[in-house]
Amino acid sequence: MRRPFARRAVKRFMPGEELADALAAAEALAPAHIGSIVTRLGETLTGESQGDAVRDHYLAAFDDIRARGLPTVVSIKPTQLGLDHSADSCRDHLEVLARKAVETGSQLWIDMEDSSYVDRTLALYRHVKSRYEPVGIAIQAYLRRTPQDIESLMDLNPMIRLVKGAYAEPPHVAFPSKRDVDLAFVSLGGRLLEAAQRGVGRPILGTHDMSIVRQIVGRAAALKLPRDRFEIHMLYGIRSADQRSLAADGHAVRCLISYGAQWFPWYMRRLAERPANIWFVMRSTFMR
Ligand code: FDA
Repeated sequence: MRRPFARRAVKRFMPGEELADALAAAEALAPAHIGSIVTRLGETLTGESQGDAVRDHYLAAFDDIRARGLPTVVSIKPTQLGLDHSADSCRDHLEVLARKAVETGSQLWIDMEDSSYVDRTLALYRHVKSRYEPVGIAIQAYLRRTPQDIESLMDLNPMIRLVKGAYAEPPHVAFPSKRDVDLAFVSLGGRLLEAAQRGVGRPILGTHDMSIVRQIVGRAAALKLPRDRFEIHMLYGIRSADQRSLAADGHAVRCLISYGAQWFPWYMRRLAERPANIWFVMRSTFMR
C-alpha cells in the first residue's frame, strides 16, 4: 500500500485500509439508496487472543455504524474468529456479535470459505440463527451438496446470500464448468424466491452476472414477490453503474466494502475472477 501505483490499483476495489474508509464509502452510497456491508480482510487467524481482538473490532464497528446512522451491516469469516483454533470460542464470538447486531438494529453475515469449512459453518449458523434473527449466511451455488444444504436450513427462516463460489475445489465437490455453476445459481435462486413467496426466508443474490440478475428479477416478478422481499449484493467497485440503476429501479441493493491491511490474497482473487482486471492494474502502474 505504500507504493502509489499499488494504491491506485487496489483503490478501485477497496476504498482504504481502515474501517473509517469503508464507512465513508458506505456514506457516499447511501443517498443512491445503496446499502452496504463492511468486512475486514484477513482469514485464518490463529490464536484465541486474535479471535478476541477481531470480535472486539467488529463490536466497535457496530457502534460506529449506529452512531453514523448508516444503512450498513457486517460480514465476517468464521476463520477470522478463530474457527481453526476452537469451534466453541468461534461460536461464542458469533453469538456476541449477533446480539450486538440486534442491539444496534443491524445484521451479521457469515461468509462461506472453502469446502472443508462448510459443515462447521452451517453448524455455527444453525446455532446462532436459532437464537438471533438478523443473521445471514453465504451459500455457494457451485457446490454439489448445496441443494440439500438449502433445504436443511429452511426451518430457520434463513437469510441466504447465494454466491457462485470463489475457491478452487475438486470436480467431485463443485461443478467445474461455469455453465453448470450458472445453471445451478438460477435454479437455486428460483427455489429461494419460491420459498420467500411462501413467507420463508429472505433471498439474496450475490452476483455481478447481470444476465442472471435479470432472470431472477423476472422470476420474482412472475411470482409477484415484492422488490423489498429479496436483495441484490455486489462488491465495491464492480458493476457500480448497475448497482445504481437497480437501486433507482426500487430493488434492494447492498454493496460489500472490504478494508484492512491483509488485502493481498483477496485482491488476487478479484483479479483472477476477471483477466481484464490485469490490464487495469497495468494501466494503474504506468499512468498517473
Ligand atoms: P461471474 O464471475 O460470472 O462474473 C459475471 C460478470 O461480473 C463478469 O463478466 C464481469 O463483468 C463482472 N465481474 C465479476 N467479477 C469481477 C471482478 N473481479 N472484476 C470486475 N468485474 C467482475 N464467494 C465465496 O466463496 N464465499 C463468500 O462468502 C462470498 N461472499 C460474497 C459476497 C458478495 C456480496 C459477492 C458479490 C460475492 C461473494 N463471493 C463469495 C464471491 C463469489 O463467489 C464470486 O466469486 C464472485 O461474485 C464472482 O462471480 P459473479 O457471480 O459475479 O459471476
